[in-house]
Amino acid sequence: MRLLPRSLLWRTVLLLAVLMVAGHFASLEIFRAAEREPRAVQIAQQIASVVNLTRSALITADPAKRIDLLRDLSQQEGIQVYPDAPNESVETLPDRPITRLVTLELQRRLGPDTRILATREGERGVWISFTIDGLDYWVRMSRERIERTDQLRWLGWGVVILVLSLIGAFAIVARINRPLGELTRAAAAIGRGDVPPPVVETGPAEVRTLSRAFNQMTRDLQRADADRALLLAGVSHDLRTPLARIRLGVEMLDSKTDEGLRSGMVQDVEDIDAVINQFLDFARVSAEPVNAAELDLNEVVHGVVERYERQGKQVNARTSAVPPVKLQPLAAQRLLTNLIDNALRHGGDEVEVETALDHDRVRLSVLDRGPGIPPADAERMLQPFTRLNEARSTVGSGLGLAIVDRIAKVHGGSVQLLPRTGGGLEARIEFSPAPAAPTPTPSTSTE
Ligand SMILES: Nc1ncnc2c1ncn2[C@@H]1O[C@H](COP(=O)(O)OP(=O)(O)OP(=O)(O)O)[C@@H](O)[C@H]1O
Ligand SMILES: [Mg+2]
Repeated sequence: MRLLPRSLLWRTVLLLAVLMVAGHFASLEIFRAAEREPRAVQIAQQIASVVNLTRSALITADPAKRIDLLRDLSQQEGIQVYPDAPNESVETLPDRPITRLVTLELQRRLGPDTRILATREGERGVWISFTIDGLDYWVRMSRERIERTDQLRWLGWGVVILVLSLIGAFAIVARINRPLGELTRAAAAIGRGDVPPPVVETGPAEVRTLSRAFNQMTRDLQRADADRALLLAGVSHDLRTPLARIRLGVEMLDSKTDEGLRSGMVQDVEDIDAVINQFLDFARVSAEPVNAAELDLNEVVHGVVERYERQGKQVNARTSAVPPVKLQPLAAQRLLTNLIDNALRHGGDEVEVETALDHDRVRLSVLDRGPGIPPADAERMLQPFTRLNEARSTVGSGLGLAIVDRIAKVHGGSVQLLPRTGGGLEARIEFSPAPAAPTPTPSTSTE
């Protein structure tokens, strides 16, 4: 079990609470130690005067009026006088610093033989012994004369101070914590590849500086992204025209040219064209505004798969009824062709496209039986310009999966590259169904 709270807010509040409680008790203890001796002297002085006055009154009173005197003392002052009796059951005062001091002080004032009791014959109070003409008597006073009655009040004030300080601490820490929490959420959003709105630049100076720097960094990142997309688009666009001329030229070479060389050159031109297309797609996905319509994913799957079949490529569709999702049709096609191209190029056999409804999410999977991608590399492959084996001779810009990832993200979906059971790769995209009432499309299956 975790005892320490995780967040900065609650850790600080807990630390302050512990320090404040300890500080309060420490100051209470110092105060009590400092006032113990003067208080003991004062209590002893009061008790000694009461005993002395009672004793003098009894000695000097007219014997006929002594009974009245004793009654008055008892009724008006709460002071009772009893003669000493042998074998009484008694209890001394509890052994505490203050009672020790009071006892010593009383014995100094009333004589060293003075006894002090807490209970005598079952009666509680403060009992002090004194002597008249060699006979022992006891005077009894109420216990309040030596006990504190303000203990609870002290505790009450302590609790009030503690609660007020904690509310103050909470407010101060929350003021620092709020912008920090916002920064954390924004940083997590950037980690996911989203573009968070600028964080509010509030709080103490250091936190404000941090927020400002973070906003600047977010803007720089966005600008760098946009610049890259613009550069790619510009270069690719400008390359297309000369490339088309080269292709035309190659195809028009006279028949004396080696046929192998000619078709090799055509293939090279096609490869370069494919890379340029990926560049343009990537730039387009970064720049295009999202105006998605409700789309039947199965329709897109069948359309794309048929196109591959016409080219004589073995791709199977296994669709099942799924609710419509909010997607741009062109983006959906781009996403699917990138994944199928990968499966055919890097994977190989048994390429399958699957749709299914899984825990309220619409799932689109492209599966193959190739070498797959090690789970440790899966996340990295979604970044632009990354390829599993950079030295591999296959063509490719390393943009395909980045395009897939961007398309999925701008439509609220997610991409996972998973090991396929039985070997190979499963590229799995998940979307939330469109919020409108889901109307599942009928299940179909083509080979
Ligand atoms: N189905 C797959 N099986 C095995 N490895 C794959 C598969 N799909 C992708 N990869 C690996 O991930 C890397 C990145 O794929 P991505 O589609 O982003 O780039 P690419 O296919 O190399 O180039 P492009 O798609 O831009 O033409 C690939 O180079 C490949 O190493
Ligand atoms: Mg690819």
